[in-house]
Parts: sequence; structure tokens; C-alpha cells
Amino acid sequence: MSAREVGIGIIGGGLMGREIAAALERWPALVDHPVRPRLRAVCDLNPAVLPWFEQIGSVESLVTDYHDLLADDRVDVVYVAVRHDLHEQLYVDTVRAGKALLAEKPFGIDEGTAERIVEAIDDTGAFVRCSSEMPFFPGAQAALRYLASGAVGRIIRARSAFLHSSDLDVTKPINWKRQARFCGEAGVMNDLGLHAWHLPLRLGWTPRVLSAALQDIVPERPGPDGTLVPCDTWDNAALRGPVEHELGEFVLDVETKRIAPGNKNTWLFEVEGLDGGVRFSTADPIGVELFRVIDVPGSGSEQSWQRIEVGSQSAWPTVTGGIFGTGFSDAILQMWASFLAEWAGELADRFACASPREALASHRMARAALRAHAEGRAVAPV
Ligand SMILES: NC(=O)c1ccc[n+]([C@@H]2O[C@H](COP(=O)([O-])OP(=O)(O)OC[C@H]3O[C@@H](n4cnc5c(N)ncnc54)[C@H](O)[C@@H]3O)[C@@H](O)[C@H]2O)c1
Repeated sequence: MSAREVGIGIIGGGLMGREIAAALERWPALVDHPVRPRLRAVCDLNPAVLPWFEQIGSVESLVTDYHDLLADDRVDVVYVAVRHDLHEQLYVDTVRAGKALLAEKPFGIDEGTAERIVEAIDDTGAFVRCSSEMPFFPGAQAALRYLASGAVGRIIRARSAFLHSSDLDVTKPINWKRQARFCGEAGVMNDLGLHAWHLPLRLGWTPRVLSAALQDIVPERPGPDGTLVPCDTWDNAALRGPVEHELGEFVLDVETKRIAPGNKNTWLFEVEGLDGGVRFSTADPIGVELFRVIDVPGSGSEQSWQRIEVGSQSAWPTVTGGIFGTGFSDAILQMWASFLAEWAGELADRFACASPREALASHRMARAALRAHAEGRAVAPV
């Protein structure tokens, strides 16, 4: 199959910019993908991060002003990974420059900025998706297939949680993700919210109302010179709401936590029903647990969670042996495979990346949660 070449530009060469550059270098692992991305240009305000990208042979341009990257005809598709307070300006400028965009979450610092970004997308007709890679783990895809089969029956409860723990260390220095003016008033719900909301939203599980327990557990952290400065973002958020469903209402729990002891970067998704259940956690990346009532020889019928292993294959086939394992970088590659296949009109019925409206909806959930917590009551996320 002859793949169409597409020029990629990255704005923001930090943690995620480098991760994406590395993922694109693994593209030949994908089988028969319609597009062949070439990283052509990288922009970062900080010139010190740019030399790292010189090791990627296809890179022709390293710049410190993103306008130069947006004016570059060799770039068709732009990935932007910068602070949340910069999203609106950069995303709007990118789509107005006629480029396709894979935008990082949370897609604007708050609901208002997300709305303005969506307006610019609607105005320009640009192809835009939002980064959310966790559903591209093979176990998540298996969980979705299980749900689609109807095996779970009437749902009792679903839970989607994104859990970090490095903030348990109260001496960890402040950074932009822990300051409301850069991260956003929603704090951890901005950082991790779309990760936790992506599948519930895709499944149409919008809670009728939301209640919320938010915690600012570490209100100060060491600044650049070691003196304590305000750390004014929510660390942990636990949201709960009833979801109307064709077989009956169920309870949805959505948690985003920076201080969940023992969890490095764990996303978990669980659904329990009257007939079956499914659980997946990135902490056990190849394992999926399924619930059913089984016949135990000699004991009769018992309730049982059983673990199966799902191997390496996800939304887009790869040369990786089916029995081999999987991880974060594989999920990133799968997300990009899906993004560029959809951009090329060749995604078919494979799992699509988070849409701008799903990203906007995750901000609506955060706004409702902020109000619910402040007013001590359940609030409709409209
Ligand atoms: N999908 C994921 O799993 C995931 C994980 C971490 C972060 N993120 C998201 O990615 C985004 C970036 O996070 P990060 O951890 O990579 O941040 P980072 O701080 O590591 O990197 C951001 C980079 O942007 C550069 N920058 C700032 N302003 C710029 C400008 N005007 N033009 C060009 N470059 C500029 C900075 O110099 C820095 O190198 C955020 O939206 C964050 O929420 C996503």
C-alpha cells in the first residue's frame, strides 16, 4: 500500500512534544496505514530544548516563534503541547493558518476558551481532535467491545479514574500545572479530566446532575528559590452523578487525583452490571477482568471476576506479535494512527480520537463540579 506523506509540525517541545516525536519515528510498526507522517518542523520558545529534535532525520526547521512554523508550507498537521493558558491563542492561530490540529487536553484553560476554540474550528472547517490516548490501550478496546455486546446487562455502576501520586511528596517544587493562572481554576480536572471523561462521554454517559468533592491537599510548594509559594489548584476531585440509560439509571463515578498513593499514571475503567462486568486498569496493561456467575464443580454457582490477557493489538494493526505486551507509548502511537487515518478519511469503524465537542463537554463537567463543590449540592452539567 502506498502511503500519502504528511508533514507534521510540533509546537511545544517539552515532555509531550518529545513523546510524540518519538512515536512518529515508530510509524513503520503500523500495518497498511494510509498516511506516512514526517516530522518537519518543531517550535519551542526555549531554544535549549530544540537540539534534541536534530536527531530526527526528517526535521528541517527548528524555530522559536510559532508563527514561523504555521507559515511553513511543508507542515500540514500541527501538534500543540503547551501550557493550558496558551491553548486558545495557539489552537485558534493554528486552525486559522489552515492546518489540521491535534490539540492537547484540556483544550483551553476553561469552558469559555474551549467554546471559542470550537467556534474557530467551525468557522474554518479545520480537522481537529484532542489528545487522549488511554482508550487506545488494547484492554480498553476489549472493554468497549464487551460493553457493546450487551453482556453487562443493566448497569449498576461505572467508574473512570485517572490517578497520580507524585504530589504526595510535599517538597516537590511548584510548576505551571499547580498554579491556577496557568493550569486553570479546575486544577486536576483540567490536567486529567479528559482522560477520565473520554470513554463515559463517548458512550453517551452524561450525568443528569453532578456532585463533587474537591480537595486542595497541599496549598503551598517550594518555588524556584526554595521558599514556599501558593499551590492554588485542586489536587483531587471525586465526581458522582446518575446517568440515564435505556435499561435503567446507574451511578457514574469520575475521579481525577494527583494524590492517590501508589498510582504513578493510572487510568482505570470499571463497569458493573446485573449480568456481567468489566474492569481495565493501565496498572495491568494486558489484563482485563470480566465478571460472570459461573458453575464451580462441586460447589454450584458462584460470582467470579476472571482475568484474561489481551496482548498487543489495539485499534490499528501493528507488526508487533499479538501475544506481546503494550504500554503508554503504544497507546500514543495508536492515537496518532487513528487521528491521521480519520484526517485522511480512512478511519472506517475504528475508535476515533476525542473530538473538540467531547473536550468541551469535559470542561462542562469541571464547571459543574466546581459549582457543586462550592454550593454543596448536585448541579446539572449543562
Ligand atoms: N496526553 C497526555 O498524556 C499528556 C501528558 C502530559 C501533558 N499533557 C498536556 O500537554 C500539554 C503540555 O504539557 P507538557 O507536560 O508537555 O508541558 P512542558 O512544560 O513539558 O512543555 C511545554 C513546552 O512548551 C514550550 N512553550 C511555551 N510557550 C510556547 C510558545 N508560545 N511557543 C512554543 N513553545 C512554547 C515550553 O518552553 C515547553 O518546552 C498540556 O496541555 C498538558 O496538559 C498531556
